[in-house]
Parts: sequence; C-alpha cells; structure tokens
Amino acid sequence: MYDASHIRNFCIIAHIDHGKSTFADRMLEITKTVEARKMRNQFLDQMDLERERGITIKMQPVRMNYKLSTINYQLNLIDTPGHIDFNYEVSRALLAVEGAILLVDATQGVQAQTIANLELAKRQNLVIFPVINKIDMAEARVDQTKEEIVELLQCDPDDILLVSAKTGEGIDAVLKKIIEKIPPPREKRGDFQALIFDSHYSTHKGVLAYVRVFKGSFSPKRGAKLKLFHKKTEIEPVEVGIFTPQLVRADSLFQGEIGYIATNLKDPSIVRVGDTIGNEEIPGYEEPRPVVWASIYPQNADEFEKMKESLLRLRLNDAALSFEVEGSHLLGRSLRIGFLGMLHLEITIERLRREFNIEAIVAQPSIEYIMLTKKGIEARVRDAETFEALSDVAEIREPLFLVSIVARTLDIGPVMDLIQKNKGEVVDIKSLTGSRIFVGALIPLRKLVTNFFDDLKSATQGYGSLSYEFGEYRHVDLVALHIHIAEHDVPQFARILPRGEVEYEAKRAVEKLYDILPRQLFVLKIHGVFGGRIIASRTLPALTKNVTAKLYGGDRSRKMKLWKKQKEGKKRLISHAEVDIPQKIYLKMIGR
Ligand code: GTP
Repeated sequence: MYDASHIRNFCIIAHIDHGKSTFADRMLEITKTVEARKMRNQFLDQMDLERERGITIKMQPVRMNYKLSTINYQLNLIDTPGHIDFNYEVSRALLAVEGAILLVDATQGVQAQTIANLELAKRQNLVIFPVINKIDMAEARVDQTKEEIVELLQCDPDDILLVSAKTGEGIDAVLKKIIEKIPPPREKRGDFQALIFDSHYSTHKGVLAYVRVFKGSFSPKRGAKLKLFHKKTEIEPVEVGIFTPQLVRADSLFQGEIGYIATNLKDPSIVRVGDTIGNEEIPGYEEPRPVVWASIYPQNADEFEKMKESLLRLRLNDAALSFEVEGSHLLGRSLRIGFLGMLHLEITIERLRREFNIEAIVAQPSIEYIMLTKKGIEARVRDAETFEALSDVAEIREPLFLVSIVARTLDIGPVMDLIQKNKGEVVDIKSLTGSRIFVGALIPLRKLVTNFFDDLKSATQGYGSLSYEFGEYRHVDLVALHIHIAEHDVPQFARILPRGEVEYEAKRAVEKLYDILPRQLFVLKIHGVFGGRIIASRTLPALTKNVTAKLYGGDRSRKMKLWKKQKEGKKRLISHAEVDIPQKIYLKMIGR
C-alpha cells in the first residue's frame, strides 16, 4: 500500500571507483530486488561500455523494498557516475532525492570528488551520512579515513558506518540507517507536479520521462493529460511505471515516488531534462555548461541526417550534450557539439558507433574564447575558421578554471610542477589530516581539457584527485595554426592557440602525424603553417612497393614503362590530395 511516510529517496555520492556500483549490488541482493541467479557485478551499470571500462556513465534509478519492524519501506536509489565529466548527472540526481550516502574508500580516503560531490549535496540541503567502504582490504586505513571524514563533515566518528561492498559486511546497517536518518518526502498536496531528471526513447511508447513526483498523483487513462511546463506542450501519457531496475508498468505514480512516464511523444526534442511536468515550475535546475566543443562529421557524408537524429536520441539520455548544426563549412555539413570534458567526448563518439552504427570524424576540439570587437560587441569563438573570419577584434579572453587537487603531501613537488607546466597559478594551499594536502589553482581551461587528469594521476602515483569549476576570464593573445598534408590544408586539424605556443604546438602536431599517419605510395609532406609560413615540417617517406618485382630479369623497357606508370600514379594522387586519413587518426590527434 502506498504511504509517503514509508518512502526514502536517496543517492550515493563518492569519488570515482570508491565502490558505489558494488555497494548498490549488495543492496539489490539484500532487498531481493534482483534474483540471485540474475545478479552480476556492477548490476546498475547496464551499458556495455560501462561494464568494459568499469565506470558508471549514466545515472540509474532503482526501487527496492525493505521490511523493517513490520513496515515495508520503498527505497529509491539513484546510482550516479563518479568521473568529473559526468558530474552533471550527479547534480540532477541530487534534485530528485532527500538524502545522500557519502561513500569513502578506506584505502584512498577523502578525495577531490568526495569534497566536490559533498558540496553539491549540501547545496540541495540533503541529509548526508558517511559510510567507509572496502574495509575488507589489507590496505584499508579505517581510522585515518574516519579522521578525514570527521574533519570534512564535523560529525561524530561513531556516526560513520563501516562496510565492505565486496563481502556485504555492514550493508544491512546502512539500510536501517537510511530509514532512520533520511526523511520521507514532504507531504505536498495539489495538482500533479514532477521533475524530469532523465529521459530515454522507446520505439513503442515514445519518449520516456524519468521523474520524481513532488505533488499529486497520476494514472494514465484515456484523455488524461499532463503539461510540460517549459515547452508548454500537452502530453497524453500511455503508461507510467517504476524501475526494478527494468521498467515495470504501474497503475499510478504518487507524490514522493520515482518512476517513469511514457509520453507517447515521438519527437525527442520536446522533452527536456530539467523541465517540470505540471503547471507550477520546480526551481533550482541548472543548465549543463559544456567546456569543450568539437565539430563532428559522419565518415559517410550521406549519413548527416542520420547522425543528427541519432544525437537527438542520445541527448534524451545525456542531457549534458548540446549541439548545433553548423552552417556552410569548408568540410560540408557538420554538427558542433559541446561536451563536459574529453572523456565525455570519447564516450559520445563511441556510443554513436555502438548504438547507432555511425562512424564520426572529430575535428580538433576547442574551448570557447570570448572576443570583444572595437564596438564592444561580444562574440564566442571556438574554431580557427570563425576566428580568422572575424575582424575588428579589440580583445580576446580565455576561461580559467578553479581546480581543487587533493594529494599526498609527499607529492607536492610534482603537483606544483604540473600546475606550473600548465600555466596555472596556485591560489590556495592547506594541509589535511593524514599527510595530505589540498591545492587550489587557477588553470587555463585549454590546458585542463587536454590531459591534465591523466598527468596528475602519473605525477602522484595514482593518489592525486581533482575537481574543477569555472573561475574567471583573462586576456589572451590567440593565433590560428593550420596543418597541411601533401600541401593541402586539413581543416579538421586547424586550431586556435596562444601566440607563444604556436611553434611548439606546430612541431608537436607535425611529429605526431608523422608517427601515426599511414604511409602512402608517394612521399608525403606534413607542414605546420602559421600566418602563411611553414613553421614545422616533416616528410613521410613513400611505401616502397616494388612493381617490377614479379618481372624476373628480362626486358628493361617493360620495367621502365611500369616505373613511369607508377610515377604518374603518384603524381595524380598528390595533385588530388587523395590522402586517406582514417578516422582513428583524427581521434588520435585530439589526445596528447
Ligand atoms: P564509478 O561509478 O565509475 O565511479 O565506480 P564505482 O564507484 O561505482 O566503483 P565500483 O563499484 O565500480 O568499484 C570499483 C572497484 O572497487 C571494483 O573493482 C570493485 O570490485 C572494487 N570494490 C568495490 N567495493 C569493494 C569492497 O568493499 N572491497 C573490495 N576489496 N573491493 C571493492
């Protein structure tokens, strides 16, 4: 029987790999939500891509039933990703719940994302309680982790629960504490009002809106309509249901519950994550803020429309994805997509390939710069083509991000070097419990999006962690760098960068292409070009294919003829610049 006082909505927040998905597995088992024979590790990571990489990309809601002192409780958990690129998923999940479990790995202690996610949860006024995981491991430092948590939350050390998501130890106590600590949804009467925190596409039922109901109830009956607040569109839902985690049809969705509404809308652009279903808006929803932009083209030019449609579908499921169709462009039709980071970019291209069978080419990703014209008009520029088309520029500004790093005190040297190498500026530094330090630094975003995260990991033997948010804009002197292959400009490789870095970056790009470009039947010149001048150059030798090999001895004039033919062939290829650049080369070029 429905009773709002028996509902608990919560999520687990943690740094990446601290064990959220495994912890959720144990809860699914104890509450018998998933049959034992169907159980598999990281059950809530349902995408193949998530399982292969061992990371959570998508938030995943699930309803569990748990009996405590004769009462059947409905526990709604939203599992969230840990990587900074998917932080937007976390912020959306937090809006749909009343409480959060702060999970900390006993072998790692409090990390940068633990702090960042905690801040997000605090902003939503959620009830938060800490749990230490992985206590079964020999390297577990339970006491030290406790101290770190006490410092962070100012809580009583006895309030910290200890668990092993691997063995299941302590999980039952967590379930009890959820019921005891996290408040049930506040009773709110009135017309139906629900927040869309995610969406999916179903071929039969149209767009499925994943919702948290804040007021009222809804049963889909013939003629029963609801309204999308922002889009001002009426919908006539065909079904409502819950997550087990599979979608299971229900008769109604009530106040306080988490479930889905099948809208029957076929157009994926109408349902917007963050919109309210109802007549009164639910405030507090933030738009995602892309940090990296890249143009993408279908490998097969005829598939542009298919690629666009696929991205619209993908966006239902990934609200952080924003894109626009680019106008007439040197390379034909393309889409410019905003991503939350390089991992987000990589995952999106991979999902296009796996889920929609589209091979996409990614042009040099860029961040967004602000240009001010002499007349004071502000333009946002992200690519070399637009940059070069602009005139009358008075000033260019670049974004700097405020980066928070948590590392071992003994790694302070390499961390400082890394910040300096990336043109960063330290703004805060303090020691934390357990021989660890916190460093706050302002770092240009263009540096942050390349490989900062991986570099930090190697500089700190894997112990350093980071989180970041927008800081400020600063003046920068930008120029455009072009890459020519076989004397032809390859616009996908063109980029804008600070004047002082153009020589170095031109050399780096040319060397990299020299290493990764497949050899052709002819000699290939690779040039870095700035202001019409070649500033870096490498020549890739031809593949030597001995066309006369099969002609043993014999007629020299026949050999001459073949050599001549081969030479002509080379010329033709060069003059048409038929250099085949495979997709993987574009992808390799965008990494470091
Ligand atoms: P993201 O969602 O990608 O941030 O990861 P996650 O926090 O969901 O972590 P996940 O559950 O994937 O666990 C990360 C690794 O730690 C996996 O290899 C787990 O098997 C392991 N792990 C999780 N909990 C425990 C535990 O209590 N003990 C031990 N020994 N290993 C654990």
